[in-house]
Amino acid sequence: MARKKRSLPPIDALSADEAAAELARLAAELARHDQLYYQSDAPEISDAEYDELRRRNDAVEARFPDLVRADSPSHRVGAPASETFAKVRHRVPMLSLGNAFDDEEVAEFAARVRRFLSLTADDPVAVTAEPKIDGLSISIRYEKGHFVEAATRGDGAEGENVTANVKTIREIPAKLKGAKIPPVAEIRGEIYMGHADFAALNAAQAASGGKVFANPRNAAAGSLRQLDPTITAARPLRFFAYAWGEMSDMPADTQQGVVEAFARWGLPVNPLMRLCASADEMLAFYREIAERRASLGYDIDGVVYKVNRLDYQDRLGFVSRSPRWAIAHKFPAEQAVTVLRDIEIQVGRTGALTPVAKLVPVTVGGVVVSNATLHNEDEIARKDIRIGDTVVVQRAGDVIPQIVRALVEKRPAGTKPFVFPKKCPVCGSPAVREADETPGAGGVVRRCTGGLICPAQAKERLKHFVSRLAFDIEGLGEEKIELFFEEGLIRRPADIFTLEARDKASTAPLAERKGFGAKSVQNLFRAIDARRTISLDRFIFALGIRYVGETTAKDLAKAFRTWDAFRSAAEAAAREGKGSAAYNDVDDIEGIGETVVDALVDFYSEPHNIEALDDLLAHVTVSPYERTTVSSPVTGKTVVFTGKLERVGRSEAKAQAERLGAKVAGSVSAKTDYVIAGADAGSKLTNAQKLGVKVLTEDEWLALIKG
Ligand code: IVH
Repeated sequence: MARKKRSLPPIDALSADEAAAELARLAAELARHDQLYYQSDAPEISDAEYDELRRRNDAVEARFPDLVRADSPSHRVGAPASETFAKVRHRVPMLSLGNAFDDEEVAEFAARVRRFLSLTADDPVAVTAEPKIDGLSISIRYEKGHFVEAATRGDGAEGENVTANVKTIREIPAKLKGAKIPPVAEIRGEIYMGHADFAALNAAQAASGGKVFANPRNAAAGSLRQLDPTITAARPLRFFAYAWGEMSDMPADTQQGVVEAFARWGLPVNPLMRLCASADEMLAFYREIAERRASLGYDIDGVVYKVNRLDYQDRLGFVSRSPRWAIAHKFPAEQAVTVLRDIEIQVGRTGALTPVAKLVPVTVGGVVVSNATLHNEDEIARKDIRIGDTVVVQRAGDVIPQIVRALVEKRPAGTKPFVFPKKCPVCGSPAVREADETPGAGGVVRRCTGGLICPAQAKERLKHFVSRLAFDIEGLGEEKIELFFEEGLIRRPADIFTLEARDKASTAPLAERKGFGAKSVQNLFRAIDARRTISLDRFIFALGIRYVGETTAKDLAKAFRTWDAFRSAAEAAAREGKGSAAYNDVDDIEGIGETVVDALVDFYSEPHNIEALDDLLAHVTVSPYERTTVSSPVTGKTVVFTGKLERVGRSEAKAQAERLGAKVAGSVSAKTDYVIAGADAGSKLTNAQKLGVKVLTEDEWLALIKG
């Protein structure tokens, strides 16, 4: 399309009013071109023309810094030439699955479902069973039956827009067929590559000197994440539909029924799905699939069980990032034998000394492994693993490979038991043994006492700070942190936000360095700017306080809502100490136990931390935690359940209350709004009566929440 080029007034000649008008025009125009480029895949101008607009905007801003708009294009991340995909927010989060590794865990899943739903052992609970495809999950949005958008899972909340690439996959229809297609249907499933196609692709890649992939999963991922969709089109990608996101109407009221509807609409579904009536039937399916695994023609890493009735799925809901109504039953880990060359001690974010096995590279389940974890010093001693040993390595799914045991019969002469260091190998501070409360950590850890003076700890904290679930700064990954840390450019979180200003004043600016184009440096600064405002949950998580993972950070953010409220509560708990009212207030929050409160107290008792936080907050605004916008008669109320409930189980009652926006507390205080007392309620009921807190029967509670 030919467009007339307007001649623009020189920037030197602009008055302040003209400059403001010009910045408004540029902001609108650039936003429109971003939209065309990113969302519609239909740019109207060339990259060079786009860059020219952006440069003009920058130049006007440089002359009139006071006029920089809140929505200035220079605050936005990602220019058309940037080597990334646009982001897509998932309207319904894309979650992952909990795992079961043996028969007991599967039986426990089935029992848990019944317990949660308050069903007896005789009530039927049908469960679908299907292979767990080892590919990558994708969400494909159809509107009025037409394919409009496809996104990767990303962090579950936000993925990458891979629409153009997914459109090239032949098995995925551009238009759904049949009757009663919902106006909005977000189909979720797995993109994968079959064994034969994988072998042929690798042979062709090797012949042409291209990249050879380690396994079909990597080949599928590499093929999908191509900036040029014509490359994706040439790759033999396939798809199975097995789940959904937003759906304006449900085509059925069971898992199986919905998947059958997918098939009628022309989507590929796995033919092996089966309905099971009991844990025994589920396990029989698992064994059958395990036997057929090698002949299926595609990689699977287990089977997935899902409660069939969708009303049950709704009631069961989610814990953290996984549904309570589904579980993955994983195949046992694959093992291989290799030689242990060395044991390296790594120092983590919290000072934990972790022994890492350096191995002679070996292929385990299709992936080359050269590092494995040895957990902690007790584990090495218990298994008597020595440098030079021949060892069994195992790998299951995405978990870090582990050393199972040493083959003592192959032990060379002259080896000695491994002596675990008593000092931090990085900063030389004493490393003390302590109990490790992290679930699954195996009880003991040796920890460097150097705190922030230990460069390893400081660096790891920074890596955590910028990681995906924390500040998630694009272009500032582990490698860059490593580099900037070594050079002294970024030593503390606040330094990230002063980097651009320091760089401008520097005689050796980043843009002039090898490996850093002007564009990539500019993109980095824009990405940093984009994070000058951050939500409370991410901010708390980013601080890297011990035992405060993603879920705990969310629980804290939900309870305090604003940074100021969180900060004063944590400071008060630190000031007044264990047993004080301030300490107990934090301890009372649902999901928060003493381990976490103690860690918060430790964090706030350390002057270095307070100083680093104050410096950081000079550059960063923490936005209040947005509660999911539910509004019910109990939103914002604090409730306590006590005694035996008749209608629903305790966990379901709690989950339901939380879904409706109530805060469920473990003990009664003057801040409690309602105590729901079932049969045989004890001291909590007496307490409530003493404090004059309103007490409800279970039926009264149910009537209240129904509104
Ligand atoms: S159901 C909310 N079914 O496994 C639950 N997932 O480990 C949605 N996967 O992220 C997932 N085969 O990428 C489901 N038949 C199957 C699957 C499957 C493979 C993947 C999926 C998920 C991951 C979790």
